[in-house]
Amino acid sequence: MKNVPMTTCPTASRRQFAKAASAAALLLAAGCSGDEKETKEKTTKNKEKTGMDFDELKEARRSVRQYAKSEITQDELEKIVTDALNAPSWKNTETTRYYAAATDAAKERMWKEALPGYNAASSANAAALVAVTYVPGESGFNAGKAVDDLGNAWGAYDCGLASSYFILAAKNRGWDTLIMGMRDGAKVKAILGIPEGEVLMSVIAVGKSAQPYMKRPRKPVAEVLKVR
Ligand SMILES: Cc1cc2nc3c(=O)[nH]c(=O)nc-3n(C[C@H](O)[C@H](O)[C@H](O)COP(=O)(O)O)c2cc1C
Repeated sequence: MKNVPMTTCPTASRRQFAKAASAAALLLAAGCSGDEKETKEKTTKNKEKTGMDFDELKEARRSVRQYAKSEITQDELEKIVTDALNAPSWKNTETTRYYAAATDAAKERMWKEALPGYNAASSANAAALVAVTYVPGESGFNAGKAVDDLGNAWGAYDCGLASSYFILAAKNRGWDTLIMGMRDGAKVKAILGIPEGEVLMSVIAVGKSAQPYMKRPRKPVAEVLKVR
């Protein structure tokens, strides 16, 4: 098996993946030799191609933990969020909210104060750090009363769906992402001025990938789908 990129071996085992990941890290540290041309072509394609069909998009979107320096405009963020607004939500309540740190000052504070070292390092150089929240008591609620046992879990469900659309929309517009569930919620809220009542889910890094494309292995479909 070739070591990178993982596109050459989509059904690789987790052990093979771990091997490939460390080989890729070595290649990065060494300035990318070996499959450099193939890797660069794939990376460039993933970075620049927009308007993909779903088959391309689902393969192109991968969590990126190494970013090249870039900037994103408010207009571009608006386009991504406008795409994400197409996500379904409980009774179309649309309770997901986005708070973007896009200035150097706001991002620095997020990296220093609100993200654990691992995530701060993984999102370094990102163009924006977008906190995703939901307004509780609306999705899954009628006249202020929870309609079933799930209560605000419906808001979290909608937020996850919206986040899915967000990261795919970003990729479709040439941006890479990393969802970061590990974060200091109180600090994120303070830095970005998020209303106390909203529930913070994740912080999503948005930027331009500086790493080779790597697909993490997935479970066999039979393990997750049962048709009766
Ligand atoms: C809810 C959620 C929380 C996550 N939190 C983190 C995180 O804190 N740090 C991180 O590096 N990756 C995080 N990830 C990314 C996952 O590790 C990643 O999506 C998974 O390994 C599959 O890889 P892929 O996105 O490249 O397909 C998170 C993903 C989700 C959906």
